[in-house]
Amino acid sequence: MSFSSYQLNSLEAYRKAYQESLRDPEGFWAAIASDFLWHQKWDQVLEWNFREPKIQWFRGAKMNITENCLDRHLDTQGDQPAIIWEPNDPKEPHRTLSYRQLLEEVCRFARVLGKNGVRKGDRVCIYMGMIPELAIAVLACARIGAIHSVVFGGFSAQSIADRIQDASCSHVITCDGAFRGARDIPLKSVIDDALTQCNTVKKVIVCRRTKTPVSMIQGRDVWLEDELEKLDRSASFPPAESMDAEDPLFILYTSGSTGKPKGVVHTCAGYMIYTNYTFVNVFQYKPGQVYFCTADIGWVTGHSYIVYGPLSAGATTLMFEGIPTFPDAGRLWEIVDKFRVDTIYTAPTAIRSLMAHGEAPLRNKDLGSLKVLGTVGEPINEEAWQWYHEKIGKGKCPIVDTWWQTETGGIMISPIAGLTPEKPSFATLPLPGIQPAIMDEKGKELQGNGVSGNLCIKFPWPGMIRTTYGDHERCRKNYFEAYPGYYFTGDGCLRDKDGYYRITGRVDDVLNVSGHRIGTAEVENAINMHTDVVESAVVGFPHPIKGQGIYAYVICHHQVKEEMTRKNILETVTRVIGSIAKPDKIQFVSGLPKTRSGKIMRRILRKIAEGEMNNLGDTTTLLDPSVVDEIKKGKL
Ligand code: WT7
Repeated sequence: MSFSSYQLNSLEAYRKAYQESLRDPEGFWAAIASDFLWHQKWDQVLEWNFREPKIQWFRGAKMNITENCLDRHLDTQGDQPAIIWEPNDPKEPHRTLSYRQLLEEVCRFARVLGKNGVRKGDRVCIYMGMIPELAIAVLACARIGAIHSVVFGGFSAQSIADRIQDASCSHVITCDGAFRGARDIPLKSVIDDALTQCNTVKKVIVCRRTKTPVSMIQGRDVWLEDELEKLDRSASFPPAESMDAEDPLFILYTSGSTGKPKGVVHTCAGYMIYTNYTFVNVFQYKPGQVYFCTADIGWVTGHSYIVYGPLSAGATTLMFEGIPTFPDAGRLWEIVDKFRVDTIYTAPTAIRSLMAHGEAPLRNKDLGSLKVLGTVGEPINEEAWQWYHEKIGKGKCPIVDTWWQTETGGIMISPIAGLTPEKPSFATLPLPGIQPAIMDEKGKELQGNGVSGNLCIKFPWPGMIRTTYGDHERCRKNYFEAYPGYYFTGDGCLRDKDGYYRITGRVDDVLNVSGHRIGTAEVENAINMHTDVVESAVVGFPHPIKGQGIYAYVICHHQVKEEMTRKNILETVTRVIGSIAKPDKIQFVSGLPKTRSGKIMRRILRKIAEGEMNNLGDTTTLLDPSVVDEIKKGKL
C-alpha cells in the first residue's frame, strides 16, 4: 500500500522525519503529496504569511479529494469494506459498503445533487444522523465541488438558521429523523423551523430513516430515494470535478469567545494530505484493520477521522449511529468484539462516563482485537487514562492522546502509537511538520524545557484553517493578532523537562463541555433572550464526567419563582443553541461583580463556581464589593 512509504515505524524514524520537516518543510510535504492522484501538479508547495493571513499549499494543483478517497483504491481493494455501519438498535442488521459500492453510492448521490441544481462552489448544509448516507452526502458534495457545511444533529433550529444564513446555503440535506439511544429526533421538522428564516435555500433533500411523519413542501422538498430512483441507471458516472488545491472543501462552525460561531474553512489538497498523513501515522493503521472512531460527523473529528483520513488511506472505517450507553454501557465494547475492532478513538468524557458504570458492562467482553486506543477533545485525567489502559487495553495497547482543533484540520500534538513513550495526561510531542511555541504574557516565545504559557504554532501546516467564511478579518483577529507571526490556539500548555507537551485547557472564554466547544458569550446571549432575565454571566466549573460544566449567574427583573424560571431558561437555551449548551447550574443573583468601567470580573465568578471561596484575589477595584458575599452565600 502506498502509505507504507511515509508511515513511520520507529521513534528514530519519527525524530528524523521531524528534523527533516524543520529543515525543508516544502520538500517534506511534497514527497508525501506525490503519492496522491493529481489532475495537475502544483507549481509551488507553499506560499504564506501570518500577517493577512495568507496560506496556500500546493498552489496551481488540480485534484479531487473523492478520487483519492475512493477511485484510487479500487484496483487493490475495491471489494474491501470502506464503511461498516452499526445501527443504533443492536437488533437491526449492520451494513457494509465496499470501496466499489461506496464510490457508486457517492456518484449516484452526486448526480441527484446536480439534478437538483447544486453547482461547484455552492454551500450545502447537511443536518443528518449518523447513517451511511451522511458520509455519502459529504463525499457527493466534494465530488462535484460543492462546499459542505455539516451541522451536528443536536443543534437547534435557530443555530441551523444562523449557520445557513452565514454561508448563504442553497441546499439542505437532512433526514426525516434520527435514532439516538432511546430517542427519535425529528430532524426534518427542526429544519422546517429553521428555514422559516432562510430565503437562500432552494431545495431540501430528505433521506428516510426513522419513518417519522414529515411535511414535504411542494417544489422545495424532495425524497432522496425518489430522486435516486429517477436516475438513468445506464448513464455513466459523471467525472469528479477538477478542484484547485486551495478551493474550499468545507465549512464547519465552531464557537469562539464572541457570541457568534465562526465558519472555519478548510481547503481540498492540504486538508487531504494532512488528515491522511496524521491518520496513517498516529494510529499506525495497517491494511485490513478495522478502525472505529466514536465521534459524530457533525464535529471535526468525524470529518477528519471517520471520513477523509481513513478513506484516503483505504482503511475500513466503522460508523456508529447510536450512543455509548444504549441499550447499556457495554455497547462500545460489544461493537469492538462484534467487528474485531483494531483501533478505537473516543473522548475522555465517554471514558469517564463508562468508567462510572463500573465493571459490569465489561463482563463477557473480550476486547482482544484492540491494538491502539485514542482520545481527543479535552485533557484526559490520569484516572481515566489508567482505566482506559488497564480495563480496555488490558495494559498492552498504546494510548494516543491527540491534541488538535477544528481549525487545525487534523492531529497536531500526539504520541505515534507504539513508538512514542507515553506519559498519562500528556499529548507528548508535535507531529512532523508542526512547530509549537509557548508564549509568555508579554508575547515573548519561551525557549527550552520546563516552561508554560499560551500555545501557538509558528509555521504553517497543510491542514490549517484558511479563513473564517465571509469574514477574513475575523480570522486574522482571532488567531493571528495576539502574537504577530504566530497562529494562536487559545489553549494553555506546558512543556516539561523532556520536551513533552501537556495541554491545560482554554485560556479564553470558551468552555469544553464533554469535548464540545461552547462559547460563554453564546450561552449568555441565549439566557438573556428569556423575558425575565436582565443580565447573565456564564463560567465553567470542573465536572467529574463532562470535564467542564456550565455555571450561570443570572439577574432577573423582579422576584421570580426560581424553579419555574430555571426550567424556562433551560428551555430557552435548548431552543436557541441546543441541549448541549444547557447550564448545569443556574444561580440567581441581584448583581454581578463589575469593575468601575462595567466589565464583569469573570475571574471571581469562575473561582466561586470552582468552590474556591477564599482566594478571590483583589476585589477592591469592584464597583460594589458586597455582591461578592451575596454570590458566595448563594453558591450551588
Ligand atoms: C479544543 C478544540 C480536536 C477535535 C475535537 C475538539 C481541546 C482537544 C485535546 C487533548 C487537551 C484537547 C483544546 C482545543 N482539546 N484535544 N488531546 N488534550 N485538550 O475540537 O471543538 O475544535 O476543540 O479542544 O482546548 O483547543 P474543537
